[in-house]
Amino acid sequence: MQIIHTVKELREWRKTAGKVAFVPTMGNLHEGHLALVREAKKRADNVVVSIFVNRLQFGQGEDFDKYPRTLQQDAGKLADEGVAVVFTPDEKELYPNVEQRYNVEPPHLQNELCGKFRPGHFRGVATVVGKLFNIVKADVACFGKKDYQQLTIIKGLVEDLNFDIEIVPVDTGRASDGLALSSRNQYLSKTERAEAPRLYRELQKAAEAVRSGSVAYLQIEKEVVRSLSEAGWTVDYVEIRHAQTLEVARAGDTELVILGAARLGNTRLIDNLEVLLS
Ligand code: PAF
Repeated sequence: MQIIHTVKELREWRKTAGKVAFVPTMGNLHEGHLALVREAKKRADNVVVSIFVNRLQFGQGEDFDKYPRTLQQDAGKLADEGVAVVFTPDEKELYPNVEQRYNVEPPHLQNELCGKFRPGHFRGVATVVGKLFNIVKADVACFGKKDYQQLTIIKGLVEDLNFDIEIVPVDTGRASDGLALSSRNQYLSKTERAEAPRLYRELQKAAEAVRSGSVAYLQIEKEVVRSLSEAGWTVDYVEIRHAQTLEVARAGDTELVILGAARLGNTRLIDNLEVLLS
């Protein structure tokens, strides 16, 4: 496995790499990331994983400096998975100008759901992903459904800006108690970790209500917020949306997703559940 730090070297490698699948990450890899890598491996001759902690997507109060940088351990895991290249540029390599002058501006969706609580986050994500797509020139890129809004925004970016890449959504990896795998789980205390699967359980209950035919979506959302709040969570949002567009769900929609974000102590967790009605 090669570890490449510069755009020039990566482009040189790319010339003879055949079909390439790409997994963008910020490092601190867990089983969820490795599931993306395994999916990527099935789809190409070579897999590139980027590890880059992207300052642009961190808002005020979100600690960019404290984000865990664990390159050595990450590289070990990726080598075991048979990854061809880890692309890990430093900040100057990816953002040579003090300020990024041209940014990718996602549509209004960037200000909804998680975007409401993380202003500028999805603009930072779309900008870095656009740059990485242009650098890696992969045929396929894998993104986790756990970050459903991110996935939707990236799909829109690829469609509207004609990136020549196939986006492969990968199901959320879960612990045996249902908790979605996330780098943030490491910040949970023992008591919080025991409580954390409630988020997914509540989404499942909401999904059950939707499947049984209820279109009282506001009511269903409120019920989840109530249950979580009673259990000590601070809820950012619980919303039922159209699974493809993430527009507010309407009665008659058959592809839905229930998304939630809530904090347990200082740790903000997100999760979602797709509901496909026949
Ligand atoms: O999902 C992530 O880890 C990041 O948002 C991404 C896609 C690597 C962009 O920095």
